[in-house]
Amino acid sequence: MTIHFIGAGPGAPDLLTLRGRDLIAACPVCLYAGSLVPEEILRHCPEGAHIINTAPMDLDAIIAEMQRAHEAGQDVARLHSGDLSVWSAMGEQMRRLRDLDIPVTVTPGVPSFAAAAASLGAELTLPGLAQSVVLTRTPGRASSMPEGETLANFAATGATLAIHLSIQNLDHVTAALTPAYGADCPVAIVFRASWPDERIIRGTLADIAGRMDAGITRTALILVGPALGGEGFDESCLYARDYDRRYRPQSAGSPWADWSDKDE
Ligand SMILES: C[S@@+](CC[C@H](N)C(=O)[O-])C[C@H]1O[C@@H](n2cnc3c(N)ncnc32)[C@H](O)[C@@H]1O
Repeated sequence: MTIHFIGAGPGAPDLLTLRGRDLIAACPVCLYAGSLVPEEILRHCPEGAHIINTAPMDLDAIIAEMQRAHEAGQDVARLHSGDLSVWSAMGEQMRRLRDLDIPVTVTPGVPSFAAAAASLGAELTLPGLAQSVVLTRTPGRASSMPEGETLANFAATGATLAIHLSIQNLDHVTAALTPAYGADCPVAIVFRASWPDERIIRGTLADIAGRMDAGITRTALILVGPALGGEGFDESCLYARDYDRRYRPQSAGSPWADWSDKDE
């Protein structure tokens, strides 16, 4: 049988892919990371499904549940918040499952940084201001950072930073970023993006700590960079009247007309 890893999205139950919903509905067993996956999503489970919150379990116990379902001929829906490609702990589960010869599939989900950007109504890559987004974090109790992945190093690029798992380290974040970005660099904190109690706090590297609510201690993203200001950027060439492109050729025989690598 198969373990289906499914990105459950950032919180709003309707920010789940149709594929994810249909897989959940088809699996008699559902393991979900209870700290962040909304219970409403579990309504897609079939009647009588065996539903387990894995928040209090360790890796051995989680894999044992998967193995038990596999041996009983049952498919498993394995739900993690947001998307599975970042901070989902999918990697370590897949490694164990590979060793046990248990097949897996992966269905992506809406990541929290995208939900936070949507809540802000922000494009994180604005021409002339930022063309890269760095998804990163600061060290935590359970995870150190590889050497070189420092905020100062990322800040040196000037990219938009989406800093996860770090709201308790806000003072460290602002201190590390100010030398490169400047004290007036825009910052947005989005708490529980897409949940009913979502909150947005905007400020600069200089004043964001003073604007923070002491109640926000987890499930928040810190977004930093000039693009967060939403001003002073260039218009993209993409929609420029005189831009020669594949779907809007300006000249017969344009050298771009067939260049498949060009901007979409
Ligand atoms: C364990 S990571 C999970 C990341 C997830 N896999 C993703 O795709 O976004 C948890 C961190 O993601 C961020 N996060 C997750 N959901 C969020 C949300 N709805 N709003 C803001 N930040 C969120 C927070 O920084 C939180 O500390």
